[in-house]
Amino acid sequence: MNNQVIIVKDYEEMSCLAYEYFKEQLKNNPKTVWGLATGSTPVGLYKKLCDSENLDFSNCTSFNLDEYEGLKQDDIQSYCYFMNENLFSKINIHTDKCFLPLGCAEDLDKECLKYDNMINLVGGIDFQVLGIGTNGHIGFNEPSESFSEGTHVVDLTDQTIKDNGAKYFNNNMELVPKRALSMGTLQIAKAKKIIILASGKNKALAVASAINGPVTPNVPASILQTCKDVIWIIDEAAASMLKI
Ligand code: GLP
Repeated sequence: MNNQVIIVKDYEEMSCLAYEYFKEQLKNNPKTVWGLATGSTPVGLYKKLCDSENLDFSNCTSFNLDEYEGLKQDDIQSYCYFMNENLFSKINIHTDKCFLPLGCAEDLDKECLKYDNMINLVGGIDFQVLGIGTNGHIGFNEPSESFSEGTHVVDLTDQTIKDNGAKYFNNNMELVPKRALSMGTLQIAKAKKIIILASGKNKALAVASAINGPVTPNVPASILQTCKDVIWIIDEAAASMLKI
């Protein structure tokens, strides 16, 4: 397995280390095409990027992993809004070079194809940041019978609706969109470099299954075992079921 696993003390240390890798990448390639994630996991990293005064993102491009179906970009529950709030509006990246799939597009299949074409046009993702769902999902690729390929429409599982409903929708599951657009698992795995972050005990089983278990679409994050350059940065609680 080519995955490097780094265990750190807690969320803060995880965010600090991720920040160091981010800085290094930016130094080596000021024109980096970033693959970005939402959720609570990368917020600490994004905060550090926002607080850092001398990082120049003006030549960078970014593509987010996913977006909820049906939400407009200015909806406060949309991932677009999240990214603007937590990162894009606070660094010097050109927002016209920050892309997310359009959840409110009229023709979602067309939107997915368009998104993939845009990613291909810039030569693919250089550096992908990932979190992991409690069921082992990456992006919004839920456990299934085969690994998904390009950007596609996903039916969210009850588990994901519950997890995200509790965190972001005040436990009102009715409000959580039931579908989303997500980059595919195999597409994510093509990124030239990947860092995947996990914090907290509720991620321990997903992390252990993805790292120690077989490569299976039942645990989408296990695909990372097949990638050349992957760094897991996980805190002690998330690493508590890991066998190394
Ligand atoms: C969400 C996102 C994922 C994210 C995951 C974990 O559903 N689609 O990209 O990694 O769930 O979220 P959190 O970081 O809030 O635990």
